[in-house]
Amino acid sequence: MTARFTFNNRVCVLTGATGGIGRQLAHLLAAEHARLILCGRREDALETLKAELPDKSVVGLCAGSLDDAVILDRLVAYGMEKQCSVLINLLGINQLADFTDMDGQAVNQLVRTNLVTPMQLTRRLLPVLTRQPTAMVTNIGSVFGHIGHPGYVAYCATKFGLRGFSEALRREVADTCVSVVHVEPRATKTAMNDGPARALNDALGNHEDEPAEVAGEILTAMRRRRPMTVLGWPERFFVSLNQILPGVVDKALRGKLAIVRRHLVARPAQTTSAPNRNR
Ligand SMILES: NC(=O)c1ccc[n+]([C@@H]2O[C@H](COP(=O)([O-])OP(=O)(O)OC[C@H]3O[C@@H](n4cnc5c(N)ncnc54)[C@H](OP(=O)(O)O)[C@@H]3O)[C@@H](O)[C@H]2O)c1
Repeated sequence: MTARFTFNNRVCVLTGATGGIGRQLAHLLAAEHARLILCGRREDALETLKAELPDKSVVGLCAGSLDDAVILDRLVAYGMEKQCSVLINLLGINQLADFTDMDGQAVNQLVRTNLVTPMQLTRRLLPVLTRQPTAMVTNIGSVFGHIGHPGYVAYCATKFGLRGFSEALRREVADTCVSVVHVEPRATKTAMNDGPARALNDALGNHEDEPAEVAGEILTAMRRRRPMTVLGWPERFFVSLNQILPGVVDKALRGKLAIVRRHLVARPAQTTSAPNRNR
């Protein structure tokens, strides 16, 4: 049996640290005596989190959008300087919308933040990770990376992509010291679900987990080096059903389409008729 992965004294890069799940995970990792490099867009939220954590558990803060090459370079430099052995790609954004109503910029942003940025960060940190005795890359996907859902077309595409990235990477680094762990939460009570997304979850009867619970499940998956974890029941059942009998899930979601449509956020009316390929 493979030994449990432990965090004592390891340098862990945690993106999305200022979010609902990220803050909880930072606390759990600090309690395991990890040394954290925390990243989020909001500097004030990072400073607040650092102040809440035990002394000396935070060895670096990286504030700003990781979609920005300067911020990404800064985080990579911290990770290399501190010899990180764990990278947790937790950052993410979402938008509940009719796909044809989304503007091109919003689609690009979702793909960039949820898929391209985690891939680039992983690619840049792998050389330092592979130099450690043992190391780990953990990607946080979503149940929507296994089940395509109306209203979340672009988000689902990014999370399906992230799952493929985790699987292929795991197989490519199988002969190195790096384990690749992929965790797929279901709906969780965080800012990501504020507003219309929460109303839709209520209307569909979707359970929302507490962020502390989800962070605990992520830590467990990492300790056990589990390649793939889907959180929640009946979501795990629907993931299997969708793989074996996708037509059944098509039919079930077709029955819910009217409810989904009532909760979609309409795009403001266009003010220009100029062609824009990116729109
Ligand atoms: N909540 C759910 O229902 C749910 C379900 C399944 C999967 N997930 C996944 O779980 C992860 C965490 O989500 P959450 O619920 O904790 O969401 P959240 O509370 O909205 O937190 C999102 C985090 O990502 C950071 N972030 C977003 N864009 C960024 C960028 N361009 N550069 C750097 N950081 C960026 C945010 O920074 P700031 O706070 O500083 O802006 C924040 O720390 C995401 O990958 C999400 O897709 C969430």
